[in-house]
Amino acid sequence: MPAAPARLVVLVSGAGTNLQALLDACADPAYGAAVVAVGADREGIEGLARADRAGIPTFVVRLTDHDSRDAWDRELTDRVASYEPDLVVLAGFMKLVGSSYLPVLGRRTVNTHPALSPSFPGMQGPQDALDYGVKVTGCTLFVVDDGVDTGAIVAQRAVPVEDDDTVETLHERIKVAERAMLVETVGRMAREGWTVDGRRVRLGG
Ligand code: GRF
Repeated sequence: MPAAPARLVVLVSGAGTNLQALLDACADPAYGAAVVAVGADREGIEGLARADRAGIPTFVVRLTDHDSRDAWDRELTDRVASYEPDLVVLAGFMKLVGSSYLPVLGRRTVNTHPALSPSFPGMQGPQDALDYGVKVTGCTLFVVDDGVDTGAIVAQRAVPVEDDDTVETLHERIKVAERAMLVETVGRMAREGWTVDGRRVRLGG
């Protein structure tokens, strides 16, 4: 076990159920990680309220408060880096990080996507899986890079598509698997470390 818990910064844009799963896991000292800050790209979301209730510092970096996407990305980088994270978790964060962020924090940042990469990248993974008619979809945790859901894969979970699924029922089933994947994998990354060799990610020394 590391001497101190790994420092997590979590970025959210919405309901924050993945964040909540991490907060709940971090309540156990044996988990080996602590959420030291929660950031968002918008105000007034349940994800920030969850952090407030847990007594975790929050910050908001809004695109509309900046002259350019680059300026927004620089500010986001500075705010996240100021918490000296060991790992940054994009948990339903609906923005792509950019060319300032990636060299500083990219290797330490994972994102969760509600589809089995490389299928169905982008904002509508569950909808696209349903439209295509696949019988199995799932979720993917990956190290961020400069693409859309293209980074090296850390973990995946498969989820069945049922005949009568709507996008809502399918996404909810995926999110159950996604939260479990996130808690298990982030905990292992925190306790055991990870290496990235090309596209291959290995947990543990
Ligand atoms: C997750 O399915 C995430 O992968 C997707 O949006 C959802 C966020 O859920 N991008 P929550 O805000 O953690 O509840």
